[in-house]
Amino acid sequence: MIAPSSRPFLTVVLAAGKGTRMKSDLPKVMHSVAGRSLLGHVLAVSADVGSIATAVVVGPEMPSVRAETAKQAPGAVVFEQVRQRGTADAVLAARAAIATHSGDVLVMFADTPLIASDTVQRLLQALDQGAEVAVLGFHAKDPTGYGRLVTDGIVGNGAANLLAIREHKDASTAERQIDFCNSGVMAFRTTNLLGILDQVGTANASAEFYLTDAIAIMRREGRRAVAVAGNEEEMLGVNTRAHLAQAEAVFQRRARAHAMAEGATLIDPDTVWFSFDTRIGRDVLIEPNVFFGPGSTVGDGAIIHASSHITGASVEAGAEIGPFARLRPGTRIGEGAKIGNFVEVKNATFEKGAKANHLAYIGDARVGAKANIGAGTIFCNYDGFFKYKTDIGAGAFVGSNSSLVAPVKIGDGAFVASGSVVTRDVTADALAVARGVQEERPGWATKFRALMAARKARG
Ligand code: UD1
Ligand code: MG
Repeated sequence: MIAPSSRPFLTVVLAAGKGTRMKSDLPKVMHSVAGRSLLGHVLAVSADVGSIATAVVVGPEMPSVRAETAKQAPGAVVFEQVRQRGTADAVLAARAAIATHSGDVLVMFADTPLIASDTVQRLLQALDQGAEVAVLGFHAKDPTGYGRLVTDGIVGNGAANLLAIREHKDASTAERQIDFCNSGVMAFRTTNLLGILDQVGTANASAEFYLTDAIAIMRREGRRAVAVAGNEEEMLGVNTRAHLAQAEAVFQRRARAHAMAEGATLIDPDTVWFSFDTRIGRDVLIEPNVFFGPGSTVGDGAIIHASSHITGASVEAGAEIGPFARLRPGTRIGEGAKIGNFVEVKNATFEKGAKANHLAYIGDARVGAKANIGAGTIFCNYDGFFKYKTDIGAGAFVGSNSSLVAPVKIGDGAFVASGSVVTRDVTADALAVARGVQEERPGWATKFRALMAARKARG
């Protein structure tokens, strides 16, 4: 981690744009990469780099964006930009926060989810070398759509002297040849940011107030502006569904590399999907086609067999999952426990060495250490209105094709006979049989066949 900036700073996150090119009912910044909203990714960086306050600019009627802000950054202050008139206008929507803040201001776009905290720190440090504004740029393979950074030479520490930013739509043919692009992250060390932004007009191809115009305005006033280059992969701004898929691909490639670098084996890395917060231990083996939703951890030495779906679950050391298993939120699979094929587990704990190896549903339950849940067992946890708990004692054995109607407890070491429908608690070490009693009719089949054959012969 790079040392934090020397001065306190306020982060203004712009999230009000509708993102019409997404063609979505969802505000653009609520679309997800690796199980977390674009906005959530940016708020996490804002917290990580140590801003003393965060302002989030949202559009009108964006309750989901407000709720996401409250969840991911409870201390952030939300401002509403009434009409989406451009990025400079969006920053000005947070006027009250900027006016009362003394220190630097960091502006981030909520549609740029992959920027690393270290990169932002590096930008903030550029202010320490005397710039009044530092812009994070990148050299794009395809710069189409991005604002171009017009520079003339290097000013020290690799930062370029920045003259202006030209938006793609407004750029001349010559300017479009520039591959150095604006990521949208800008750090200001000026006492007059509001005064500068108030000078931004709308005489451009989009008739919008461009934040990027602030650079030329500052240069005219003799202020120093620099551009710091970062890695293109981090800077992807999501404006379309195709960009969203690109951002996901970059995230996944990095997450796979990280899991392997930390000592996990991924047999076919390209088919394993992680969430933003998935944690994988050492010597974990992950077979092909495995998906991790948010909130999942896998302990050292665990095996995740092919085609398993794991979300909100912790798999502890040495446990074995799948193939074709589904672990849903609130699940804990203890050390050395086993969840086999076509088993679904929700909000349940499997204690050390417990097993459900085939075709079962286990919901709202505790399964004690070394208990065995037979094939086809269903935990009947829901009556259409409420959910109820099932408790299976240590070492209990539930025979195949049983239904356990919750709330119900199976005592330690008890047996449930195969095919039972258990509606009452079972005492420790007892056998519960709750099914039709088998009867036998000697010779019945012989007589039946003779009767039917005769009926058929009569026509
Ligand atoms: C912007 C930059 C461009 C840069 C690119 C990087 C401007 C004028 N252009 O272009 O130089 O290369 O990002 O990805 O700044 N927003 C609001 N209110 C508005 C408009 C936008 O809050 O009125 C928010 C959006 O929600 C988004 C961000 O600002 O999070 C950027 O807006 P967007 O429309 O995506 O700008 P780009 O065309 O990508
Ligand atoms: Mg954008």
